[in-house]
Amino acid sequence: MRVLVVGTGAREHVICESLKDDVELYSYMGNVNPGIARISEYKQGNELDIQKVAEYAKEKNIEIAIIGPEAPLGKGIVDEFEKYEIRSVGPNINAARIETDKSFMRSLFEEYKIPGSLTFEVFDNYEDIDNFLDDYDNDVVVKPVGLTGGKGVKIVGDHLEDNNEAKIYAKEVIDTKMGGFSQVIIEEKAIGEEFTIQAFSDGENLSPMPAAQDHPHAFEGDSGPITGGMGSYSDNDGLLPFLNQRDYDAGVEIMKKTISAIKDKTSQYKGILYGQFMLTKDGPKLIEYNARFGDPEVMNTLPLMETPMIDVCNGVVDGKLKKVSFIDKSSVCKYLVPEGYPETKYANTLINVDEEKINSLGGHIYYAAVNQKGDGIYTSSSRAIGVVGIGEKISDGEEIAEASCKYIQGNLYHRKDIGKRELIDKKVNHIRNIKGLN
Ligand code: GLY
Repeated sequence: MRVLVVGTGAREHVICESLKDDVELYSYMGNVNPGIARISEYKQGNELDIQKVAEYAKEKNIEIAIIGPEAPLGKGIVDEFEKYEIRSVGPNINAARIETDKSFMRSLFEEYKIPGSLTFEVFDNYEDIDNFLDDYDNDVVVKPVGLTGGKGVKIVGDHLEDNNEAKIYAKEVIDTKMGGFSQVIIEEKAIGEEFTIQAFSDGENLSPMPAAQDHPHAFEGDSGPITGGMGSYSDNDGLLPFLNQRDYDAGVEIMKKTISAIKDKTSQYKGILYGQFMLTKDGPKLIEYNARFGDPEVMNTLPLMETPMIDVCNGVVDGKLKKVSFIDKSSVCKYLVPEGYPETKYANTLINVDEEKINSLGGHIYYAAVNQKGDGIYTSSSRAIGVVGIGEKISDGEEIAEASCKYIQGNLYHRKDIGKRELIDKKVNHIRNIKGLN
């Protein structure tokens, strides 16, 4: 079977690894990702140029396309593929609104009475923002309605001093049409621990993956600026040390109801649904959805998948998705990123990766925003390499990932604390406090 993976990062590298032994693999990517380049026939080009990507797919007689990032989904790449009768693991432009239009997402929760939502309002003028925030006693989160590459969301207490600053920022979002809408969404701030559930969907059936927890802050102790995600872990029972079966199941139930609401409202959702939840004292609350795998969380789940990826993809596109199974192991992913990241100070420096040594330790590496050039691999301004350790316990995975990081040299840093007992205990205690169990 001929399969095309669209996208250029570590997420797409791990997707390609999961398919490479079973399919004729093609890829379409912006940078030359060395990991993807050596296992696929590839074309370098802008993945947002969706007609060109679809023409390439047609030329190569692609049977299934897997779309890695959200931006091409938001531009309608799946609809473009449909013109050539190429089926996709990824929602069409209407179903992808679950990520690309936060107002649509929250309204869907309201209309279909899906549990786990948050108080929210959508605004398009200053007066309504003032009226709402003058009367609102709790901290809020301000979000552009459309896609902003993860950079537009600001939280009172993290990025904003108080609800007054929230007002100023909300007005800026409207004025600058941030994310492409002259609108802004203001939500209540949920307090708890964030976790991720990713799931495959064929439009009717949802099959969830093990839960994972990402670490968006740049520095150890969950401090510093927000990044695309510095690393993540998953546990051998599919839950997390602070997440019990009941709360996980409640998250999956929310996602199932969402899939069914999307079908009723727009069209079947075929692809990956990524639920970012906050575990609060009242159970899981949906923070946002992505219409794709999580990055880094996909590096926790796909390497543990027992069901062959190509069977899962066929199930998604044929509407015959069965339960996807995973091995009972833990995983830890640590991202090596350029010094200065998320600022862009030291982009374009050479790095050296001793893959043989890393493999001998049992580590896995997934190349992200790097570029293969004549004399080696160069960083860009974003995350460079995801390093994954898999073991019986989280601590085993952490040790493998940490040992592997030593064999990657360059102007890079990573968070040593991800997957370590001390940080995980903090999260467990946080939830125990919130639930009144301490
Ligand atoms: N882990 C954050 C994301 O995938 O958007």
